[in-house]
Amino acid sequence: MKLFLDTANLDEIKEIKRWGVLGGITTNPSLLSKEGRPWEQQMRDILDLVEGPVSLETTHTETEEILEEGLKLAAMGPNAVVKVAMTPNGLAAGKRLVDEGIRINVTLVFSPAQAILAAEIGAYIVSPFLGRIDDVGSDAMHALRQICDIYEKQRYETQVLAASLRHPMHVVEAGLAGAHIATLPFDVFEKLVKHPLTDLGLEKFLSDWRKLVEGTQEGRSVS
Ligand code: E4P
Repeated sequence: MKLFLDTANLDEIKEIKRWGVLGGITTNPSLLSKEGRPWEQQMRDILDLVEGPVSLETTHTETEEILEEGLKLAAMGPNAVVKVAMTPNGLAAGKRLVDEGIRINVTLVFSPAQAILAAEIGAYIVSPFLGRIDDVGSDAMHALRQICDIYEKQRYETQVLAASLRHPMHVVEAGLAGAHIATLPFDVFEKLVKHPLTDLGLEKFLSDWRKLVEGTQEGRSVS
């Protein structure tokens, strides 16, 4: 399972890239609005910084406008992936983008039924929003497992991207369900790497090593 960072923040992207685990980026209008820079410049900087796919979201609701915006977003870089919302117009525009050879990510997906539609138009990525499904008291992981099962049985090539992840167990469960990609906010990456036993273990190894090195130096100075 590839790990994507769900952000429009350049410092967060640089940090996760430094870890060597950055598979790609997902952005959305809310994330871009937090950065307080012209959106086009911000998108260009992200595309330049990242080698993997970068999802950029369309912001219109009519088919022709989504299509026009999608074509412009796709032209911003070879790693741009165009996000369209799971609506009839989003699907219609998405299908035409796919026919143009553009990779699309169908976003705001909340059910296996919607995920089937995304696969049928030949989407590159489908994004079920797990955290938001949990928020309304439904079983997000059950839905994700069903999507992954259907995709495998039907041999769909669309990649399942587990989105709206809130904690490390969401990531673990997404991997178990068979998601191809998980997109995580920065704080979930930080939680993923942390374990108290790692900190305690490292502290003990380093203190034992210091004692050994100091002892050796004393030994040398005596002889
Ligand atoms: C994915 O592409 C979305 O940007 C994201 O995962 C939404 O997450 P949220 O529900 O935490 O806003």
